[in-house]
Amino acid sequence: MKKIIAFAGSTSSTSINKQLVIYTASLLQNVETKILDLNDYPLPVFSVDLEKNGFPIEVSMFLDQLKKADGFIVSLAEHNGNVTAAFKNLLDWTSRMELKMFFEKPMLLMSTCNGARAAKLAFEYGQMRFPRHGANIVSTFSLPEFKDNFSDGKVVNEVLNDELKEAINSFQNSL
Ligand SMILES: Cc1cc2nc3c(=O)[nH]c(=O)nc-3n(C[C@H](O)[C@H](O)[C@H](O)COP(=O)(O)O)c2cc1C
Repeated sequence: MKKIIAFAGSTSSTSINKQLVIYTASLLQNVETKILDLNDYPLPVFSVDLEKNGFPIEVSMFLDQLKKADGFIVSLAEHNGNVTAAFKNLLDWTSRMELKMFFEKPMLLMSTCNGARAAKLAFEYGQMRFPRHGANIVSTFSLPEFKDNFSDGKVVNEVLNDELKEAINSFQNSL
């Protein structure tokens, strides 16, 4: 059975991106899905000086999870027009151990926020940058106005839910 690693680019205990990831993962069929939490990979702010002392174990723990996957579901939270500092820091550390950390495997890239732009800038960062790290972005989905469009663990706007299901189908077909 194919193995999917899914995570949100957030450390919030109430992360809306994680809620979207959990819902999306629940719609996949015939795959084994593991949802990661960035809080399980706490890291000091990257510096080349710290790196000289060696890599924290959390970097290889995160990379090991990525290595084992056949595909990825990632939803990016937006802070001040970019991905969160916690996620960027994890990306920076991991990229020093393995630049192509997504190993040319398929990715469903998502984002959400409570605004109408659906965390577009964080999403665009991922869309532009992740291919350089080996991500094969095969489908995408952005959920605007999370508070109106998501309830009880589900996307409740039918049009958007259909769009998400299409993105999931493309992702599944690429595995
Ligand atoms: C420091 C900070 C900066 C933020 N900047 C933005 C922003 O630039 N654009 C946006 O749409 N939302 C912004 N937000 C709101 C976040 O999108 C919101 O907190 C969302 O819940 C984050 O996703 P998460 O719940 O998955 O962590 C910001 C929130 C914080 C705490």
